[in-house]
Amino acid sequence: MSDKAVLAYSGGLDTSVAIKWLKERYNLKVITLTADIGGDSNLEAIRQKALDIGAIKALVVDAKETFIKSFVFPALQTDALYEGQYPLATALGRPLIAQLLVATAKKEGATIVAHGCTGKGNDQVRFDVSIAALAPELKVIAPAREWNMTREQTIAYAQEHNIPVPATTASPYSVDENLWGRSIECGALEDPWSEPPKDVFAWTKSLEETPGQPSYVEIGFEKGIPLSLDDEKLDGVTLVQRIHELAGEHGIGRIDHVENRLVGIKSREVYEAPAATVLLKAHQALEDLVLTKEQLRFKAKVASEYADLIYNGLWFTGLRQDLAAYVESSQRYVTGIVKVKLYKGNCQIVGRKSPYSLYNFSLATYDKGDVFDQSASPGFIHIWGLPVRTQARVQPAKPPE
Ligand code: ARG
Repeated sequence: MSDKAVLAYSGGLDTSVAIKWLKERYNLKVITLTADIGGDSNLEAIRQKALDIGAIKALVVDAKETFIKSFVFPALQTDALYEGQYPLATALGRPLIAQLLVATAKKEGATIVAHGCTGKGNDQVRFDVSIAALAPELKVIAPAREWNMTREQTIAYAQEHNIPVPATTASPYSVDENLWGRSIECGALEDPWSEPPKDVFAWTKSLEETPGQPSYVEIGFEKGIPLSLDDEKLDGVTLVQRIHELAGEHGIGRIDHVENRLVGIKSREVYEAPAATVLLKAHQALEDLVLTKEQLRFKAKVASEYADLIYNGLWFTGLRQDLAAYVESSQRYVTGIVKVKLYKGNCQIVGRKSPYSLYNFSLATYDKGDVFDQSASPGFIHIWGLPVRTQARVQPAKPPE
C-alpha cells in the first residue's frame, strides 16, 4: 500500500510537476494543500488542476485571518524589517504553510509532507525547520531540490505528462505573493545594475502614473494593532487590503534590495509591499510618541534580532516566543491615531495623537506656557560634562585639521 504525502501546492509549474513526480519516483498518493494567504489566484481552478494531474485529494484552506493575526501583526508590532528594508512577507508566510501542512498530514494520516522549494533559497529552510519543530516524525520531501531539472527540462517533463504549463511560465520572474507583500526575483533582476523593467510590478503604480493629488488616511491603532481607517473599524484582512489599494495607487512600497540569504548567497530581490510600508511607518510614528527614548532604542535591537530570526526560518523556537512576549508587553500604550499623506511614492507621517502620548507641550514649547526650568540646565550640564572635562585635561581633545 502506498503512503500518503501532503504537498504544499501553488498551482505553478514546479508543484504541478511534483504531483506526478512524487507518484512516479516514490509511489506516493498525493494530497495537495493550497493555503490562501492572499495571493490573487483562482483557487478553485488550482484545486481542479491538482485533481486533474492526479492528486487523490485537493484541499484549499483560507488562512488569511490567521496569517494577519498570528504572523503579520506580531511582525508589525515588532517593526520587523530584514536588513532594514524587507518587510518579510514571504518569510512570514512559510511557517504558517508549514503549520497547515503538519495539521493536514495528521488529519489525513500522511507520513510525508512535500514542498516545491529549490535547494538554493531561504524557503526550503523555513519549511524544513518549521516542520521539524512541529512534527519531527514527518518526513519532508522537496522534489525540486532532488530532481535536478533545469527550467526547460521541467517544462518538457510537464509536456510529456500532460501537465498544463501555465501561461505565466512565460514570465521570466519568480514571484511569491501574500497579503503582506509580493516578492519578485530572477530574469532581468539578476543583474543588480539593471533597473527593474515595468513588467516586474503588479501592485504599485510607477511614479509617472500616480495621481497628481495626495491622499490622506488616518490609521487607528490599539496596543500596536491597526484597527481602523478614518474612524471606520475594520477587520485585519480588510484593513490591510484597503491600505494596499490606496498605497499601491500612489506608487508606495517598491523595494529594491540586494539581500543576504541564509545559504550564503547575495540575491537581488524586488518587493512590492504597499500596505506593509505604510503600516510599519505609521506604527513606528506612534511608538515615537508613546515610548521613552530607552524603550525605543532597546526595541530597535529586538526588532533587528526578531527580523533575522523570521528570515532565517526560526519562527517556531523558544527565542521567538520570548521576543514575542517582550514585544507584546512593549505595545501596551501603543494606542492612538496616525495621519498619513500618500503622494508620489512617498508615505509621509503628518500627524499623530494618543491618550498615552509622552509629548508634553508645556515642556517642548518655546512660546508662552513654557514650564521647563532653564536655570536647572547649567547644573545638569556641569555633571554631564564632567567625564569629558576630566579626559580633556589629561588627553587633550583633538579638533579636526
Ligand atoms: N527573498 C525573499 C525571502 O527570502 C523572497 C523569496 C521568495 N521569492 C520569490 N521571488 N519567489 O523571503
